[in-house]
Amino acid sequence: MNMVEHPGFVLWFTGLSGAGKTTIAVALEAQLRERGMRLERLDGDTVRQGLTRDLGFSKEDRDKNIERVTFVAKLLSRNNVAVLASFISPYIAHRDGVRAETTHFIEVFVDAPLEICAQRDVKGMYKKAFAGEIKNFTGVSDPYEPPINPEIHIHTDQETVDESVQRIVTWLEERQYIPAKVTA
Ligand SMILES: Nc1ncnc2c1ncn2[C@@H]1O[C@H](COP(=O)(O)OP(=O)(O)OP(=O)(O)O)[C@@H](O)[C@H]1O
Ligand SMILES: [Mg+2]
Repeated sequence: MNMVEHPGFVLWFTGLSGAGKTTIAVALEAQLRERGMRLERLDGDTVRQGLTRDLGFSKEDRDKNIERVTFVAKLLSRNNVAVLASFISPYIAHRDGVRAETTHFIEVFVDAPLEICAQRDVKGMYKKAFAGEIKNFTGVSDPYEPPINPEIHIHTDQETVDESVQRIVTWLEERQYIPAKVTA
């Protein structure tokens, strides 16, 4: 497939565990690939198995985790690659740091109430966190600082995955970050 012209940008999905960051990023990735875009998806789970496998979840290690991811997102976005980054990234200062370092940073707040995320309990982590078996679990035993003025705010308890993805696509199209869909 021919590659199309588009600028680099960083769609930064932040939110509680189980809010839907990975689910939405994966669905969006498929749509953007259909348009022939250059993109890379960075996800907390996979990055923590590789690039940052030496790190845990203390404040200091979370600092380092986001610092390294920021570096990668900076290199990619300045070379016209679209980056879809899904990280809980609970601290405003970290997210502002990525914004300052990368090209066309777009903060996407993937928002769902803690109770809903805990009910979903996709990875069985909330059960353990509430039982006191996991330290530093965001929303339970560690802070989450919600974005104050995100570019895109998604409520995954009120809209479907498809609706959220479509809202992001429209937002990007309106700003010419992504090319219109080729239907022919
Ligand atoms: N509207 C929605 N958008 C996204 N996910 C939804 C929605 N409604 C229900 N879900 C479900 O919520 C769960 C979200 O899990 P997901 O792994 O995407 O969360 P996450 O934010 O990536 O969490 P983590 O930080 O632990 O990786 C999935 O099981 C998904 O099917
Ligand atoms: Mg995830």
